[in-house]
Amino acid sequence: MKTKRSPFKYILEGPTGATTNIHQKDMLYFAGVGYFQLQNHPDIIQASVDALQKYGISSATSRAGIGTTDLLLKVDQKIAEFFNTDDAIYLPSGYLSNIAGIQALKAMGKFDVIFIDEVVHYCNEEAALTAAVPVYTFKSRDSKDLEVQLKTHLKGKQKPLIVSDGMFPVWGWMAPIPEYIAIAEKYNGIIWIDDAHPVGIIGENGRGTYDYFNLKSDRLFMGATLSKAFGAYGGFIPGSEEFIYHVKHGHVIDGSTSPVSAAAGAALKGLQLVTENPQWRDQIRKNAVRLKDGLKAMGLEVENNDFPITSFKIGGAEQMQNIHAELFKRNIYIQYTKYIGAGPEGVLRTVMFSTHNYEQIDHLLSNLKEII
Ligand SMILES: Cc1ncc(COP(=O)(O)O)c(C=O)c1O
Repeated sequence: MKTKRSPFKYILEGPTGATTNIHQKDMLYFAGVGYFQLQNHPDIIQASVDALQKYGISSATSRAGIGTTDLLLKVDQKIAEFFNTDDAIYLPSGYLSNIAGIQALKAMGKFDVIFIDEVVHYCNEEAALTAAVPVYTFKSRDSKDLEVQLKTHLKGKQKPLIVSDGMFPVWGWMAPIPEYIAIAEKYNGIIWIDDAHPVGIIGENGRGTYDYFNLKSDRLFMGATLSKAFGAYGGFIPGSEEFIYHVKHGHVIDGSTSPVSAAAGAALKGLQLVTENPQWRDQIRKNAVRLKDGLKAMGLEVENNDFPITSFKIGGAEQMQNIHAELFKRNIYIQYTKYIGAGPEGVLRTVMFSTHNYEQIDHLLSNLKEII
Protein backbone atom coordinates (compact mmCIF):
# COMPACT_ATOMS: atom_id res chain seq x y z
CA MET A 1 0.00 0.00 0.00
CA LYS A 2 1.28 3.47 -0.84
CA THR A 3 0.93 5.70 2.22
CA LYS A 4 2.14 9.27 2.71
CA ARG A 5 5.12 7.94 4.66
CA SER A 6 6.01 5.27 2.10
CA PRO A 7 9.66 5.29 0.95
CA PHE A 8 8.53 3.87 -2.41
CA LYS A 9 8.24 7.00 -4.49
CA TYR A 10 8.41 5.46 -7.96
CA ILE A 11 6.46 2.35 -8.87
CA LEU A 12 7.64 0.10 -11.69
CA GLU A 13 4.93 -1.33 -13.89
CA GLY A 14 7.01 -3.82 -15.82
CA PRO A 15 10.52 -5.31 -15.88
CA THR A 16 13.55 -3.05 -15.66
CA GLY A 17 15.63 -2.52 -18.79
CA ALA A 18 17.06 0.24 -20.97
CA THR A 19 13.43 1.32 -21.22
CA THR A 20 11.33 0.79 -18.11
CA ASN A 21 7.70 1.50 -17.36
CA ILE A 22 7.40 3.79 -14.35
CA HIS A 23 4.00 5.17 -13.38
CA GLN A 24 2.62 3.89 -16.69
CA LYS A 25 5.18 5.82 -18.73
CA ASP A 26 8.00 4.28 -20.74
CA MET A 27 11.13 5.94 -19.42
CA LEU A 28 14.74 5.78 -20.53
CA TYR A 29 16.18 4.04 -17.49
CA PHE A 30 19.72 4.32 -16.12
CA ALA A 31 19.32 2.80 -12.67
CA GLY A 32 19.04 -0.51 -10.86
CA VAL A 33 21.53 -3.30 -11.34
CA GLY A 34 20.15 -5.41 -14.18
CA TYR A 35 23.41 -5.00 -16.06
CA PHE A 36 22.59 -7.36 -18.96
CA GLN A 37 18.83 -6.90 -18.74
CA LEU A 38 18.48 -10.62 -18.14
CA GLN A 39 15.66 -10.23 -15.63
CA ASN A 40 13.17 -10.43 -18.51
CA HIS A 41 15.21 -12.45 -21.01
CA PRO A 42 12.86 -15.03 -22.59
CA ASP A 43 15.19 -17.97 -21.84
CA ILE A 44 15.44 -16.97 -18.18
CA ILE A 45 11.68 -16.63 -17.88
CA GLN A 46 11.16 -20.01 -19.55
CA ALA A 47 13.71 -21.70 -17.27
CA SER A 48 12.00 -20.09 -14.33
CA VAL A 49 8.52 -21.25 -15.39
CA ASP A 50 9.80 -24.80 -16.04
CA ALA A 51 11.35 -24.95 -12.57
CA LEU A 52 8.22 -23.59 -10.96
CA GLN A 53 6.07 -26.17 -12.69
CA LYS A 54 8.35 -29.05 -11.76
CA TYR A 55 9.17 -28.14 -8.14
CA GLY A 56 6.40 -25.79 -6.95
CA ILE A 57 7.28 -22.49 -5.28
CA SER A 58 9.81 -23.90 -2.83
CA SER A 59 10.63 -27.06 -0.96
CA ALA A 60 9.08 -25.52 2.17
CA THR A 61 12.03 -26.49 4.31
CA SER A 62 15.66 -25.48 4.70
CA ARG A 63 18.44 -26.75 2.49
CA ALA A 64 19.96 -28.57 5.45
CA GLY A 65 16.59 -30.18 6.21
CA ILE A 66 14.98 -32.05 3.32
CA GLY A 67 14.85 -28.89 1.16
CA THR A 68 17.69 -29.45 -1.31
CA THR A 69 16.29 -30.35 -4.73
CA ASP A 70 18.40 -31.71 -7.58
CA LEU A 71 17.87 -28.29 -9.20
CA LEU A 72 19.55 -26.53 -6.26
CA LEU A 73 22.46 -28.95 -6.48
CA LYS A 74 22.81 -28.10 -10.17
CA VAL A 75 22.95 -24.39 -9.29
CA ASP A 76 25.66 -25.08 -6.67
CA GLN A 77 27.63 -26.99 -9.28
CA LYS A 78 27.19 -24.30 -11.95
CA ILE A 79 28.42 -21.60 -9.54
CA ALA A 80 31.50 -23.70 -8.71
CA GLU A 81 32.16 -24.15 -12.44
CA PHE A 82 31.70 -20.44 -13.16
CA PHE A 83 34.13 -19.42 -10.41
CA ASN A 84 36.42 -22.41 -10.93
CA THR A 85 36.28 -23.46 -7.28
CA ASP A 86 36.03 -26.88 -5.59
CA ASP A 87 32.53 -26.25 -4.35
CA ALA A 88 29.83 -23.58 -3.95
CA ILE A 89 26.48 -23.04 -2.28
CA TYR A 90 23.37 -21.24 -3.49
CA LEU A 91 21.48 -19.31 -0.79
CA PRO A 92 18.16 -17.43 -0.56
CA SER A 93 19.74 -13.96 -0.94
CA GLY A 94 22.99 -12.05 -1.36
CA TYR A 95 22.30 -10.37 1.97
CA LEU A 96 22.26 -13.76 3.68
CA SER A 97 25.32 -15.03 1.82
CA ASN A 98 27.49 -12.44 3.59
CA ILE A 99 26.08 -13.43 6.96
CA ALA A 100 26.49 -17.15 6.21
CA GLY A 101 30.05 -16.68 4.89
CA ILE A 102 31.33 -14.67 7.84
CA GLN A 103 29.64 -17.00 10.32
CA ALA A 104 31.29 -20.00 8.64
CA LEU A 105 34.72 -18.36 8.92
CA LYS A 106 34.01 -17.77 12.60
CA ALA A 107 33.02 -21.41 13.08
CA MET A 108 36.33 -22.41 11.45
CA GLY A 109 38.22 -20.31 14.03
CA LYS A 110 39.73 -18.19 11.25
CA PHE A 111 39.59 -14.82 13.06
CA ASP A 112 39.31 -13.11 16.45
CA VAL A 113 38.80 -9.45 15.45
CA ILE A 114 37.05 -7.79 12.51
CA PHE A 115 38.24 -4.73 10.55
CA ILE A 116 35.55 -3.39 8.29
CA ASP A 117 35.51 -0.69 5.59
CA GLU A 118 33.50 2.28 6.90
CA VAL A 119 31.03 2.20 3.99
CA VAL A 120 30.71 -1.54 3.57
CA HIS A 121 27.22 -2.80 2.66
CA TYR A 122 24.77 -3.10 5.59
CA CYS A 123 24.70 -6.89 5.46
CA ASN A 124 28.41 -7.13 6.20
CA GLU A 125 28.09 -4.82 9.17
CA GLU A 126 25.29 -7.01 10.44
CA ALA A 127 27.25 -10.17 9.68
CA ALA A 128 30.18 -8.76 11.66
CA LEU A 129 27.92 -8.12 14.67
CA THR A 130 26.71 -11.73 14.66
CA ALA A 131 30.31 -12.92 14.95
CA ALA A 132 30.42 -11.55 18.54
CA VAL A 133 34.04 -10.33 18.30
CA PRO A 134 35.41 -6.76 18.47
CA VAL A 135 34.68 -4.83 15.26
CA TYR A 136 36.74 -1.79 14.14
CA THR A 137 36.23 0.33 11.05
CA PHE A 138 38.88 1.70 8.69
CA LYS A 139 38.68 4.55 6.18
CA SER A 140 37.10 3.40 2.97
CA ARG A 141 39.57 1.75 0.55
CA ASP A 142 42.49 3.04 2.62
CA SER A 143 45.02 0.27 3.20
CA LYS A 144 47.27 2.61 5.20
CA ASP A 145 44.47 3.34 7.66
CA LEU A 146 43.63 -0.38 7.75
CA GLU A 147 47.18 -1.11 8.89
CA VAL A 148 47.02 1.70 11.49
CA GLN A 149 43.83 0.15 12.89
CA LEU A 150 45.40 -3.31 12.94
CA LYS A 151 48.47 -2.02 14.77
CA THR A 152 46.28 -0.16 17.27
CA HIS A 153 43.74 -2.86 18.07
CA LEU A 154 45.22 -6.31 17.44
CA LYS A 155 46.45 -7.98 20.61
CA GLY A 156 48.88 -10.88 20.98
CA LYS A 157 48.26 -13.59 18.42
CA GLN A 158 44.78 -12.38 17.44
CA LYS A 159 43.90 -13.02 13.80
CA PRO A 160 42.08 -10.29 11.86
CA LEU A 161 39.25 -10.60 9.36
CA ILE A 162 39.20 -7.70 6.87
CA VAL A 163 35.74 -7.05 5.38
CA SER A 164 35.06 -5.01 2.25
CA ASP A 165 32.81 -4.73 -0.78
CA GLY A 166 34.69 -5.67 -3.96
CA MET A 167 33.03 -2.79 -5.81
CA PHE A 168 31.12 -0.13 -3.87
CA PRO A 169 27.53 0.34 -5.02
CA VAL A 170 27.34 4.13 -5.21
CA TRP A 171 30.65 5.20 -6.73
CA GLY A 172 31.63 1.96 -8.44
CA TRP A 173 35.03 2.14 -6.75
CA MET A 174 37.00 -1.10 -6.44
CA ALA A 175 38.58 -1.93 -3.10
CA PRO A 176 42.40 -2.32 -3.25
CA ILE A 177 42.22 -6.03 -2.44
CA PRO A 178 45.84 -6.82 -3.52
CA GLU A 179 47.03 -4.35 -0.85
CA TYR A 180 44.74 -6.00 1.70
CA ILE A 181 46.18 -9.40 0.85
CA ALA A 182 49.70 -8.15 1.59
CA ILE A 183 48.42 -6.82 4.95
CA ALA A 184 46.53 -10.04 5.70
CA GLU A 185 49.72 -12.02 5.09
CA LYS A 186 51.69 -9.77 7.43
CA TYR A 187 49.13 -10.05 10.26
CA ASN A 188 48.03 -13.66 9.65
CA GLY A 189 44.56 -12.55 8.67
CA ILE A 190 41.91 -13.30 6.09
CA ILE A 191 39.62 -11.20 3.84
CA TRP A 192 35.89 -11.39 3.17
CA ILE A 193 34.72 -9.71 -0.04
CA ASP A 194 31.09 -8.87 -0.77
CA ASP A 195 31.25 -9.10 -4.55
CA ALA A 196 27.57 -8.40 -5.30
CA HIS A 197 28.22 -5.79 -7.98
CA PRO A 198 31.30 -6.92 -9.94
CA VAL A 199 30.41 -10.58 -10.47
CA GLY A 200 29.36 -11.21 -14.04
CA ILE A 201 30.49 -7.81 -15.30
CA ILE A 202 34.15 -7.40 -14.27
CA GLY A 203 37.20 -9.49 -15.13
CA GLU A 204 38.04 -11.54 -18.19
CA ASN A 205 35.71 -14.37 -17.20
CA GLY A 206 33.23 -12.25 -15.30
CA ARG A 207 34.40 -13.63 -11.96
CA GLY A 208 34.41 -10.17 -10.40
CA THR A 209 37.08 -8.79 -8.09
CA TYR A 210 39.23 -11.97 -8.06
CA ASP A 211 39.31 -11.92 -11.84
CA TYR A 212 39.84 -8.16 -12.18
CA PHE A 213 42.99 -8.21 -10.02
CA ASN A 214 43.91 -11.76 -11.02
CA LEU A 215 43.91 -12.82 -7.37
CA LYS A 216 44.82 -16.19 -5.94
CA SER A 217 45.16 -16.50 -2.19
CA ASP A 218 43.87 -18.93 0.37
CA ARG A 219 43.28 -15.90 2.61
CA LEU A 220 40.46 -14.70 0.34
CA PHE A 221 36.77 -15.56 0.72
CA MET A 222 33.80 -14.13 -1.12
CA GLY A 223 30.04 -14.10 -1.43
CA ALA A 224 27.77 -12.42 -3.97
CA THR A 225 24.33 -12.28 -5.53
CA LEU A 226 22.59 -13.68 -8.59
CA SER A 227 20.04 -10.85 -8.60
CA LYS A 228 22.13 -8.35 -10.57
CA ALA A 229 24.24 -9.40 -13.58
CA PHE A 230 22.84 -12.94 -13.70
CA GLY A 231 19.21 -11.85 -14.01
CA ALA A 232 17.99 -14.21 -11.31
CA TYR A 233 17.64 -14.05 -7.56
CA GLY A 234 19.50 -15.41 -4.55
CA GLY A 235 22.98 -15.34 -3.09
CA PHE A 236 25.96 -17.65 -3.43
CA ILE A 237 29.34 -18.48 -2.01
CA PRO A 238 32.03 -20.24 -4.05
CA GLY A 239 35.09 -21.67 -2.32
CA SER A 240 37.12 -24.60 -1.08
CA GLU A 241 35.43 -27.82 -0.05
CA GLU A 242 36.36 -27.17 3.59
CA PHE A 243 34.95 -23.61 3.66
CA ILE A 244 31.71 -24.51 1.85
CA TYR A 245 31.29 -27.48 4.21
CA HIS A 246 31.14 -25.00 7.08
CA VAL A 247 28.71 -22.69 5.24
CA LYS A 248 26.46 -25.70 4.59
CA HIS A 249 26.52 -26.51 8.30
CA GLY A 250 25.74 -22.95 9.44
CA HIS A 251 22.54 -21.40 10.78
CA VAL A 252 21.51 -19.68 7.53
CA ILE A 253 21.41 -22.93 5.57
CA ASP A 254 19.84 -24.81 8.47
CA GLY A 255 17.30 -22.18 9.45
CA SER A 256 15.95 -20.54 6.29
CA THR A 257 13.77 -22.00 3.56
CA SER A 258 15.76 -22.98 0.49
CA PRO A 259 15.74 -20.58 -2.50
CA VAL A 260 12.50 -20.55 -4.50
CA SER A 261 12.46 -22.85 -7.52
CA ALA A 262 11.66 -20.14 -10.07
CA ALA A 263 14.76 -18.23 -8.90
CA ALA A 264 16.89 -21.40 -9.04
CA GLY A 265 15.77 -22.12 -12.62
CA ALA A 266 16.58 -18.52 -13.55
CA ALA A 267 19.96 -18.75 -11.78
CA LEU A 268 21.02 -21.81 -13.74
CA LYS A 269 20.08 -20.19 -17.05
CA GLY A 270 21.58 -16.81 -16.06
CA LEU A 271 24.95 -18.39 -15.24
CA GLN A 272 24.87 -20.21 -18.59
CA LEU A 273 23.98 -17.07 -20.58
CA VAL A 274 26.63 -14.92 -18.92
CA THR A 275 29.24 -17.65 -19.59
CA GLU A 276 28.24 -17.88 -23.25
CA ASN A 277 28.06 -14.14 -23.94
CA PRO A 278 31.31 -12.41 -22.93
CA GLN A 279 30.55 -9.73 -25.56
CA TRP A 280 27.91 -8.32 -23.19
CA ARG A 281 30.72 -7.27 -20.84
CA ASP A 282 32.49 -5.52 -23.73
CA GLN A 283 29.31 -3.65 -24.61
CA ILE A 284 28.81 -2.45 -21.03
CA ARG A 285 32.39 -1.18 -20.99
CA LYS A 286 31.88 0.68 -24.27
CA ASN A 287 28.62 2.18 -23.02
CA ALA A 288 30.24 3.24 -19.76
CA VAL A 289 33.07 4.98 -21.59
CA ARG A 290 30.60 6.76 -23.89
CA LEU A 291 28.68 8.12 -20.89
CA LYS A 292 31.73 9.02 -18.81
CA ASP A 293 33.41 10.81 -21.73
CA GLY A 294 30.22 12.80 -22.31
CA LEU A 295 29.94 13.75 -18.64
CA LYS A 296 33.62 14.75 -18.53
CA ALA A 297 33.12 16.90 -21.63
CA MET A 298 30.45 18.79 -19.64
CA GLY A 299 33.06 19.50 -16.96
CA LEU A 300 31.67 16.97 -14.47
CA GLU A 301 34.00 14.98 -12.28
CA VAL A 302 33.60 11.24 -12.81
CA GLU A 303 35.79 8.22 -12.13
CA ASN A 304 38.26 7.32 -14.82
CA ASN A 305 37.25 3.72 -15.48
CA ASP A 306 34.96 1.66 -17.70
CA PHE A 307 32.71 0.27 -14.96
CA PRO A 308 28.93 0.56 -15.39
CA ILE A 309 28.21 2.62 -12.27
CA THR A 310 28.84 6.36 -12.70
CA SER A 311 27.95 8.85 -9.98
CA PHE A 312 28.54 12.58 -9.83
CA LYS A 313 27.63 15.62 -7.82
CA ILE A 314 26.25 18.88 -9.18
CA GLY A 315 25.85 21.53 -6.50
CA GLY A 316 24.02 20.53 -3.32
CA ALA A 317 21.15 18.19 -2.52
CA GLU A 318 18.43 20.56 -3.71
CA GLN A 319 20.02 21.17 -7.10
CA MET A 320 20.56 17.44 -7.65
CA GLN A 321 16.97 16.66 -6.69
CA ASN A 322 15.79 19.27 -9.17
CA ILE A 323 17.94 17.80 -11.94
CA HIS A 324 16.60 14.35 -11.18
CA ALA A 325 13.01 15.68 -11.24
CA GLU A 326 13.51 17.62 -14.49
CA LEU A 327 14.98 14.55 -16.21
CA PHE A 328 12.04 12.53 -14.93
CA LYS A 329 9.64 15.01 -16.54
CA ARG A 330 11.53 14.36 -19.79
CA ASN A 331 11.00 10.59 -19.38
CA ILE A 332 14.57 9.88 -18.31
CA TYR A 333 15.24 8.16 -15.01
CA ILE A 334 18.55 8.54 -13.19
CA GLN A 335 18.81 8.13 -9.46
CA TYR A 336 19.28 10.81 -6.85
CA THR A 337 20.44 8.79 -3.87
CA LYS A 338 21.89 8.98 -0.39
CA TYR A 339 22.68 5.25 -0.35
CA ILE A 340 25.72 3.86 1.49
CA GLY A 341 28.80 6.00 0.76
CA ALA A 342 26.93 8.79 -1.08
CA GLY A 343 27.48 11.30 1.74
CA PRO A 344 24.88 13.62 3.33
CA GLU A 345 24.22 15.66 0.16
CA GLY A 346 23.64 12.56 -1.94
CA VAL A 347 24.69 11.97 -5.55
CA LEU A 348 23.25 11.55 -9.01
CA ARG A 349 23.85 7.94 -9.98
CA THR A 350 23.62 6.27 -13.36
CA VAL A 351 24.01 2.64 -14.37
CA MET A 352 24.85 1.33 -17.82
CA PHE A 353 23.32 -1.83 -19.22
CA SER A 354 24.69 -3.80 -22.17
CA THR A 355 21.30 -3.16 -23.80
CA HIS A 356 21.57 0.64 -23.84
CA ASN A 357 22.50 2.05 -27.23
CA TYR A 358 24.57 5.15 -27.99
CA GLU A 359 21.48 7.08 -29.07
CA GLN A 360 19.93 6.56 -25.63
CA ILE A 361 23.15 7.51 -23.85
CA ASP A 362 23.54 10.64 -25.97
CA HIS A 363 19.91 11.54 -25.29
CA LEU A 364 20.62 11.47 -21.55
CA LEU A 365 23.75 13.57 -22.06
CA SER A 366 22.07 16.23 -24.21
CA ASN A 367 19.16 16.58 -21.79
CA LEU A 368 21.49 16.82 -18.82
CA LYS A 369 23.48 19.50 -20.65
CA GLU A 370 20.32 21.54 -21.23
CA ILE A 371 19.33 21.33 -17.57
CA ILE A 372 22.55 22.07 -15.71
C1 LIG B 1 27.03 -4.59 -2.12
C2 LIG B 1 25.78 -5.39 -1.90
N1 LIG B 1 25.83 -6.50 -1.14
C3 LIG B 1 24.76 -7.26 -0.92
C4 LIG B 1 23.53 -6.94 -1.46
C5 LIG B 1 22.35 -7.82 -1.17
O1 LIG B 1 22.13 -8.75 -2.20
P1 LIG B 1 20.66 -9.34 -2.43
O2 LIG B 1 19.85 -8.26 -3.03
O3 LIG B 1 20.84 -10.52 -3.33
O4 LIG B 1 20.15 -9.75 -1.07
C6 LIG B 1 23.41 -5.78 -2.24
C7 LIG B 1 22.12 -5.31 -2.81
O5 LIG B 1 21.32 -5.87 -3.40
C8 LIG B 1 24.56 -4.99 -2.48
O6 LIG B 1 24.51 -3.89 -3.25
